Amino acid sequence: MSTIKFNVNGQPQAVDIDPSTPLLWTLRDHLGLTGTKFGCGAGLCGACTVHFNGSAVRSCQIPVQALEGAEITTIEGLSESGDHVLQKLWVELNVPQCGYCQAGMLMAAAELLKRIPNPSDEDIDTHISNICRCGTYPRIRDAIKRAAQEVKV
Ligand code: FES
Ligand code: FES
Repeated sequence: MSTIKFNVNGQPQAVDIDPSTPLLWTLRDHLGLTGTKFGCGAGLCGACTVHFNGSAVRSCQIPVQALEGAEITTIEGLSESGDHVLQKLWVELNVPQCGYCQAGMLMAAAELLKRIPNPSDEDIDTHISNICRCGTYPRIRDAIKRAAQEVKV
């Protein structure tokens, strides 16, 4: 066991833990942040996406020992009260179906908008490789493109 210190959603954390534990399970089981979902556990689906020092990463693939001093943002910290422009458009455009993949989708989309403020369909398809079994991809694209317009205004 080791004590790993890092920040989650702006709050300092010190977790006494097996250092090989994936970030996903550290968030869910040790910090009670269950908005980040387990899908495949193999780095494929993106349901577990969070921001690691501002980059979208698959938290099931990151051992907690890699986090010393890092800034992690989860879906719970994307905005103060669920009012990030993407979250508002996700509701307005009825993006989710079952919802399981959507926290990861939102985290991936938020990071994409920071890197590419006005992404094309191709940009979105290239940069967001998260899987949605319900096939909400067209609505996700629409919401990201609307968000790009609203942020610009
Ligand atoms: S649960 Fe991490 S990529 Fe699928
Ligand atoms: S909304 Fe069901 S898996 Fe994406």
